[in-house]
Amino acid sequence: MENKQPSVMDLLIETHAELERQGPGSPEMTCKALGFLDHLDQISRTADLGCGSGGQTMVLAQHLAGTITGLDLFPDFIHVLNENVQKRNVEERVRGVVGSMDDLPFEKETFDLIWSEGAIDNIGFEKGLAHWHGFLKKNGYVVVTCPSWLTNERPAVIEKFWSDAGSGLDAVGHNIEVLQKCGYQFIASFALPETCWTDNYFIPREAALKGLLKKYPGNETVEAFVAENRYEVELYAKYKQYYGYIFYIGRKM
Ligand SMILES: C[S@@+](CC[C@H](N)C(=O)[O-])C[C@H]1O[C@@H](n2cnc3c(N)ncnc32)[C@H](O)[C@@H]1O
Repeated sequence: MENKQPSVMDLLIETHAELERQGPGSPEMTCKALGFLDHLDQISRTADLGCGSGGQTMVLAQHLAGTITGLDLFPDFIHVLNENVQKRNVEERVRGVVGSMDDLPFEKETFDLIWSEGAIDNIGFEKGLAHWHGFLKKNGYVVVTCPSWLTNERPAVIEKFWSDAGSGLDAVGHNIEVLQKCGYQFIASFALPETCWTDNYFIPREAALKGLLKKYPGNETVEAFVAENRYEVELYAKYKQYYGYIFYIGRKM
């Protein structure tokens, strides 16, 4: 029997560390977004911010020849990324570092591409785009996914869920204007399909949650954590036509 009392943060990390992805996404959609960039062969330095354990970092590594630095706040995720880097023999080109997206530990104007899936909303879409602008070379690309409203109707229950989670949702049009205001040319945007949420995230996460319930029987913190995760799935099933993850692609002017 497990005696340790895990915090919600411990549970979040334990649930997600061994998943392929820590949020909605897919290799196909990462490749689709890459398809909007000109001259992939000229991209020599990429940063993947809020990379988690690096599911999309490895997809980028398959399609880009240059170096890729994954950055995440949580050492456990970076540890998994760096283990996978070694297993795949790409340590010459890919590495994970611990750091915060809102205070990047890099030199200014060094990246051809800043990538970030499912993470920018943690620091705010505008704040992230404005901060990262300084780290891109001229004509460098920024590619992010961010949860956004898909309709003018905004169910209060969804508004509350995301604001309780620390992320405000905005409309796609609003976010495109913000991207332009932050000094980028707008290139493209598109929504992630439903399977990126269900097959690629919720289903593997549910298996990890079942593992937690087994590992910590009768633990109220664990039960509440699992219930909150399942509530997110219920909300998505009921309200998915109103919101989703959107890829936003811009180019530094
Ligand atoms: C929804 S997950 C997405 C992870 C991964 N990019 C993916 O799509 O599978 C969000 C990630 O952002 C990271 N994160 C949150 N706040 C951060 C911050 N201030 N700086 C760096 N990473 C952060 C989390 O640790 C987590 O790995």
